[in-house]
Amino acid sequence: MKILVTGANGMLGVDLCAELTSAGHTVIRADSGIRDGLSLPAWVRIDVTSTKEVAECVLYHQPDAVIHAAAYTDVDGCERDPDLAYRVNALGTWNVAAVCGTHHITLFYISTDFVFDGSKKEPYTEFDVPNPISSYGASKLAGERYVASLCSRHFIVRTSWMFGAHGKNFPDAILRKAGAQSEIGVVCDQIGSPTYAPDLSRALVALLESPLYGTYHITNAGHCSWHEFAKKAVELAGVKGVEIKPMPATAWPSPTRRPAYSVLRHYALELQGRDNLPPWADALNRFITARKS
Ligand SMILES: NC(=O)c1ccc[n+]([C@@H]2O[C@H](COP(=O)([O-])OP(=O)(O)OC[C@H]3O[C@@H](n4cnc5c(N)ncnc54)[C@H](OP(=O)(O)O)[C@@H]3O)[C@@H](O)[C@H]2O)c1
Repeated sequence: MKILVTGANGMLGVDLCAELTSAGHTVIRADSGIRDGLSLPAWVRIDVTSTKEVAECVLYHQPDAVIHAAAYTDVDGCERDPDLAYRVNALGTWNVAAVCGTHHITLFYISTDFVFDGSKKEPYTEFDVPNPISSYGASKLAGERYVASLCSRHFIVRTSWMFGAHGKNFPDAILRKAGAQSEIGVVCDQIGSPTYAPDLSRALVALLESPLYGTYHITNAGHCSWHEFAKKAVELAGVKGVEIKPMPATAWPSPTRRPAYSVLRHYALELQGRDNLPPWADALNRFITARKS
């Protein structure tokens, strides 16, 4: 298949394009700013907030599917500048959904656990009602609604706590600090499911051939707090002499309210008998091993 990926230069985008290519698909990589050395013919520069640019790009390349991973992902930035959040995450997705819907192109939209408020005490299924408590979550939910209403052949894939080799990520930040500090305070009262970008990429590639359009939750299996995530990263990296101290979310300086509990149950995959995502600690181990080499 010919697949156009927006946000191709981002943390998920880079791994996803590699996975699509190794599965034999033709990949059109689209992003807002292309790093030096990557302006190859297969790269396309687009601003998803431009209706014209999005339509021209999609119509020129005529993909079988679009995977829309581009987003304004700075959660605190979204809180400070909600107009920018809505411009990129809502209008940008509106543009992509409109052209895909009109031209019957399958659309994958990558969404987030932040569409939920975090008040539930057990994992959220795809049938739970979203209620975002941040601008990032609200703008991503607005994107979901455009996708669902404008493009019948859609997959809305919610994921969470992503980490990978090609972007700013939590385990890297912890391991950098662990090399420089003897004590690190980490939030212990927010619970979620860490997700390794290559594992999510494989799951997305597997969904490409499915006729069962709709909403899916895809994360690594299991859940933890940020504190447990940090402790496991330090343990797997073999770093000694640093204490990871539990800290309440209220002690973390941020303008953003985050869900206290945002574990996503992969209910749609479970119902289809295809929920086979590996555990997050196994994924973290692979990430740390790859980081060392
Ligand atoms: N990271 C997570 O923990 C997480 C969790 C749940 C869901 N998600 C979702 O997963 C998707 C991928 O996330 P990620 O972490 O890979 O994000 P990322 O590393 O921030 O990458 C996002 C990409 O989108 C591009 N982009 C931003 N504004 C754009 C615009 N106006 N036009 C075109 N491209 C634009 C960025 O390019 P520039 O940098 O050049 O602007 C960047 O390459 C996003 O939809 C995100 O909402 C992420």
